[in-house]
Amino acid sequence: WRIPTLVQELAAAGAHEPPSRYVRREGELPAGAAVVDMPEPIPVIDLCRLQSAAAGAMEAVKLRSALQSWGVFAVINHGIETSLMDDVMKASGEFFSQTLEEKQKCSNIVGNKQHFQVEGYGNDQVKTHDQVLDWSDRLHLRVRPEDERNLATWPKHPESFRNVLHDYAVKSEIIKETILQAMAKLMELDEAYFLNQFSDRSPVTVRINHYLPCPRPDLVLGFKPHSDDGVLATLLVDNDLVALQVLRDGIWYNVPTKPHTILINIGDFMEVMSNGIFESPVHRVVANTEKERISLAMFYGLDPEKEIEPASDLLHGVKQPAQYKTVKTKDYMAGFYEHFARGTRGSLMRA
Ligand code: SIN
Ligand code: FE2
Repeated sequence: WRIPTLVQELAAAGAHEPPSRYVRREGELPAGAAVVDMPEPIPVIDLCRLQSAAAGAMEAVKLRSALQSWGVFAVINHGIETSLMDDVMKASGEFFSQTLEEKQKCSNIVGNKQHFQVEGYGNDQVKTHDQVLDWSDRLHLRVRPEDERNLATWPKHPESFRNVLHDYAVKSEIIKETILQAMAKLMELDEAYFLNQFSDRSPVTVRINHYLPCPRPDLVLGFKPHSDDGVLATLLVDNDLVALQVLRDGIWYNVPTKPHTILINIGDFMEVMSNGIFESPVHRVVANTEKERISLAMFYGLDPEKEIEPASDLLHGVKQPAQYKTVKTKDYMAGFYEHFARGTRGSLMRA
């Protein structure tokens, strides 16, 4: 197979048809299943209330319903200033608007040009010759542990990029902590149960997605259907285009997104640890003919050697057996990217 052309180049070339490598197969086309707007506003969870002694229980009920209905919700009172959100999105936009040559200094292709690393700038990692590629480019970076940052893939321009991304990641920790504590309480687990699964070596990664206009949005996807790996993900977007969709009962629902709103969804590891009480939502991004879009997703993973398994306090003999097999994070991840490349969700191991 060949190295994929960056979507930014394809868009700039102004072709009327996307190359065949980007065209979804029958059944995976954006209109292949029903698509509708969400019939209700996206759930909004107030993180201050969630932590308060008086109102916490009521907010937790909202959280439970958000997790069990759409699996994706917005948070407010999270402590991240609007100006920091603007700064991180602006720095991301400035990175993407540079010349190809400059961006390729951060490439996700190493050495012999046939080997992809997860980190860096580029398109999909190509795993198979028949893989359909996403109509977007992306910059994927490891944020934590800090001493494992591959700085060769971290932009030097704009100059503010590294600092603002670092600040945004630091401030985002509180969101992860608050949600995971509340989720543990909802399941009547020790409040620190999920937080205790992490160590100071646990990976935090960020994927900044750059979606470009496409002359045939009916043939491509900005981002293939997938559920996220990891425990939890946060998402920040730069505009209010209808793009993100979440799958429920065979129907794709448009998720309204707007700037300065942080969305959260859980990932596959949480689905396993909660023994399926909470499911990691399948989502995708559709393209459009007009406008660019940038989104920034932050993923909270677990140590490669850590075993992921349903919390033992959630298991009760034959009445409530484990729904998932125990799996080591690194083994899960090895399968994840294979399935991810194909747009399938198969690495979850049902018991
Ligand atoms: C993602 O799933 O990482 C991307 C979501 C989005 O761009 O809205
Ligand atoms: Fe995702």
